[in-house]
Amino acid sequence: MSPKELYELSKVYLSGNQNSDESVQIEELVKVLHFHEWKYAVQNSPVISDQEYDTLYKMLEALELKYPQQVKKDSPTQRVSSDLSSKFPTVPHLVPMLSLDNSYNLEDLEDFDKRIKKLTNIDIEKDLEYVVEPKFDGGSIALIYEHNQIARGATRGNGVKGDQITANLRTMRSIPLSAEFSNKGIAKAELRGEALIRKDIFQKVNAEREDAGQEIFANPRNAATGGLRMKDPRQTAQRGIEAFIYQMGYAENEAGENVMDQFETHFETIQLLGDLGFKIPAQETKVCKNIREVFDFVKQWEEKREDYPYEIDGMVIKVNNLALQDKCGFTSHHPRWAIAFKFKAKQATSKLVNVEYQIGKIGSVTPVAKIEPVALAGVTVSSISLHNEEFIVSKDLRIGDTVLVERAGDVIPYIVKSMDELRDGSEQKIEFPKNCPSCASKLIKAETEAAWRCPNTLCEGQALQRMIFHVSKPAMDIDGFGKSIVEKFYELGFIKSIADIYDLDYEKIAKLEGFGERSITNLKAAIDKAKQNPISRFLHSLSIHHLGKKASKLIAQEIKHVLELKEWNEERFTQIKDIGPVVAQNVIAYFNIPENVLLLQQMESNGVNLTQTEEDKPLEIAEDAPLIGKSILFTGTLMQMGRKEAQSKAEAAGAKNISAVSSKLNILVVGEKAGSKLKKAKEIGTVQILTEQEFIDLLD
Ligand code: IVH
Repeated sequence: MSPKELYELSKVYLSGNQNSDESVQIEELVKVLHFHEWKYAVQNSPVISDQEYDTLYKMLEALELKYPQQVKKDSPTQRVSSDLSSKFPTVPHLVPMLSLDNSYNLEDLEDFDKRIKKLTNIDIEKDLEYVVEPKFDGGSIALIYEHNQIARGATRGNGVKGDQITANLRTMRSIPLSAEFSNKGIAKAELRGEALIRKDIFQKVNAEREDAGQEIFANPRNAATGGLRMKDPRQTAQRGIEAFIYQMGYAENEAGENVMDQFETHFETIQLLGDLGFKIPAQETKVCKNIREVFDFVKQWEEKREDYPYEIDGMVIKVNNLALQDKCGFTSHHPRWAIAFKFKAKQATSKLVNVEYQIGKIGSVTPVAKIEPVALAGVTVSSISLHNEEFIVSKDLRIGDTVLVERAGDVIPYIVKSMDELRDGSEQKIEFPKNCPSCASKLIKAETEAAWRCPNTLCEGQALQRMIFHVSKPAMDIDGFGKSIVEKFYELGFIKSIADIYDLDYEKIAKLEGFGERSITNLKAAIDKAKQNPISRFLHSLSIHHLGKKASKLIAQEIKHVLELKEWNEERFTQIKDIGPVVAQNVIAYFNIPENVLLLQQMESNGVNLTQTEEDKPLEIAEDAPLIGKSILFTGTLMQMGRKEAQSKAEAAGAKNISAVSSKLNILVVGEKAGSKLKKAKEIGTVQILTEQEFIDLLD
């Protein structure tokens, strides 16, 4: 069968329309699942979601249960999938690394609970304790410690053997190089965990790769698993991968005897690992007294999944009592004492229907794919940015293609790839436009940049985007003045440039639907407030190419009035530490355009502040400031001020804010509900620990 036929056959099964003999169904499902395993594990490019794969897998499992004699030796249910790479030596795991069974709803969980109780002879009505922890979406790893030292690290591989990547794992600071296992009489232990990249670090890695002209990663998982397999461990180290440990697989004493029976529960082993210095999901884990509580907890997590700094694709539920785990045992595929609760799919396939082109605030033209709407992790997606022409070319996207879409790392959806094996010849090449979609000027492209740009400084499309940015939170932060209001006022001819925002005709606005007295008063107040903004915000709000928040701040420190910049040359700009020639040239170019200077003058006469404020001035730290030369960290909830406020107070008093507890930390300020950071600081012993009040007293 061709890939296209296998793909379509999967869709037939998924829609429940299969009507062949059940024995034929077994054969077909084996073939279909082989195909998807190969796409996923060998080619690294799945064409259906994990959830769809699981559905097909379960169909086959059910049929095989009904016809045990027909179970094929090569059935996907008879092995765990393989991702062996040839780059690293292969090593056997002490205990096979199995997969997990999946569940999607309360009923599945209740069935799981019943199965366990049956296996362990527990009364169905009685409570049974489970541990629930995140199901991390990264690359699984196994670590072996011998005589308190890390001896070996490996990937999961095919579950029986993995790639030996010790050198790469040793570079990860979340993995201790030594740990006092001997305190528990353990001479050799195997631990299981997941290597992950935090979502924000993933964004940074991708931004850097984009700048360097390298291909970007589709999701944090690919960035992490790719990072595990770097030939040069230093490159692994640079990627910012972390490892969470979620399982103690095995432990033996000097005599080689299994000593796992000293532990009563899974939770206890994880706590021990946390105490030994491993990164464990401590805050994220809950011991639940019954399956109903488990369900409530996983549902809570599904809600807050997007806010969690790491990618998770579900929660893992484990029988807490280790003796009961032993009683349950394993299938060839998964432990019977654990199950994954999978969240709604984040990947789906859809059809690329059209490409539209949007003009940005600095004139870049961004292609946007219009796709047939698909549900992704609870949100319907129909529009996806394609970044630039190069992205379209490198992915060889065509109109009419079936595309794999993913929402990961953040809320912005992403096209992972087009599935060219599903093409039938009717697909059309995407022709990038030669002219601006707004003003029809001929587009230009600098060699060093990825984007085509409209060079017309008076382009209306750009002006609109600049207004939208100008009022937004990172810029002038005009509360309640959102994108849709800007668009509406622009359409009605109320505003043509950012200067008009400060000279609105409120009588006209009052006639519009949705603008009552109250909302007009609020809008006026928000605009008046913005007029007093520091000039660092103002500079940033002008949409000058490359002039970001930080550079705006640095420049604002050096000028008494914004229009002074008219006289500045490149040398003057680059005298400022951290301001380079690119920023300098762009600001100079902006002030060389007479219309821009006029615009600024008009804004000033409309009441906008262009003069340096107290907030713009550089922080002057007195020689006798109380915290000079000290590093400081805040943890827990502060009651008298916000975290940001506390940090800037500390900075003003000469301290440097740092983000982690280590021997380099001088002061830890603890608020309410302080957790692991406080514990760690106490262990280090040299960290000065202050309450919020003590910190305030110190400043005074
Ligand atoms: S326990 C023997 N716990 O999910 C039990 N696995 O589909 C093995 N995973 O390859 C799994 N978070 O890498 C367990 N908290 C967690 C997990 C977890 C992620 C991964 C694991 C495995 C896959 C199973």
